[in-house]
Amino acid sequence: MSVFADVSLAKVDVLDSNIAYREAGEADAPVVLFLHGNPTSSYVWRNVLPIVAPVAHCIAPDLIGFGQSGKPDIEYRFADHVRYLDTFLERAGITSAYIVAQDWGTGLAFNLAARKPEFVRGLAFMEFIRPMPTWNDFIPDQVKTFQNFRTPGVGEEMIFEKNLFIEGVLPAATVRTLTDEEMEVYREPFRTRESRRPVWKFPNELPIAGEPKDVCATIEAAHKALAESTYPKLLFAGDPGALISPAFAEQFAKGLKSCNLVKLRSGLHYLQEDHPDVIGANVKEWLLEIGIGSSPKQMLSL
Ligand code: BEZ
Repeated sequence: MSVFADVSLAKVDVLDSNIAYREAGEADAPVVLFLHGNPTSSYVWRNVLPIVAPVAHCIAPDLIGFGQSGKPDIEYRFADHVRYLDTFLERAGITSAYIVAQDWGTGLAFNLAARKPEFVRGLAFMEFIRPMPTWNDFIPDQVKTFQNFRTPGVGEEMIFEKNLFIEGVLPAATVRTLTDEEMEVYREPFRTRESRRPVWKFPNELPIAGEPKDVCATIEAAHKALAESTYPKLLFAGDPGALISPAFAEQFAKGLKSCNLVKLRSGLHYLQEDHPDVIGANVKEWLLEIGIGSSPKQMLSL
């Protein structure tokens, strides 16, 4: 047996494919849904889940096309992820949850909360997706790389051929050096050219300078709903962060209702890889403070 392997996850049939998920905690406790981003999977939450599990039923799906989930022949647009996640939640019988999200997982969480406000009991988030009116709002030293990812022909060469999101962006946006074993788990879903389509699509969906128009409109609407929402929130910021700096996070948290801010030490984009213990401990404490112990439970059909 290879030591470079993740545990094999359970799967649920979803639309024409399947969604794999990681699960921890008591099955009859309130659900905490963990949503990852690009190019990771539920594996990115592996060191956070055991800390939160004593107070919750933790469910961490792999987004469609990522981790151990299926890879149907779809475009992997943001709207596709919404469809597959919605159907996963329906199939699992999850009608409300606390959500913990990072990167594109936050886009999905904000969108879900905007469409189904009754679903979200609380939201912990980090390195989040927001409308960026110009490229000046993006990470300064990543502008050229991400513009290249979005340039027809060039982006495909960088991601389909050279696998640069896994081999370049992931290690560069994590402060510590990921081990060979960890990198192999992240590589596993993307061994072939075509398997990398979901990874290539996400940077092309980032709502920057008005493009893509439909994603910009969706994320703007989701942020409007977030700004008006009253459910409890917990924002984590790394130093210096990547998408979100500590100063930006402080202003952003002040502009929201019921939002606490946790400033992490040295961190870039993949904060769960650098600070799983602090994130886990703060999420657990926050869940207890906002009353997870007295939340209604639900029967799941996973
Ligand atoms: C992103 O997928 O949005 C992203 C990844 C790494 C660094 C910054 C942003």
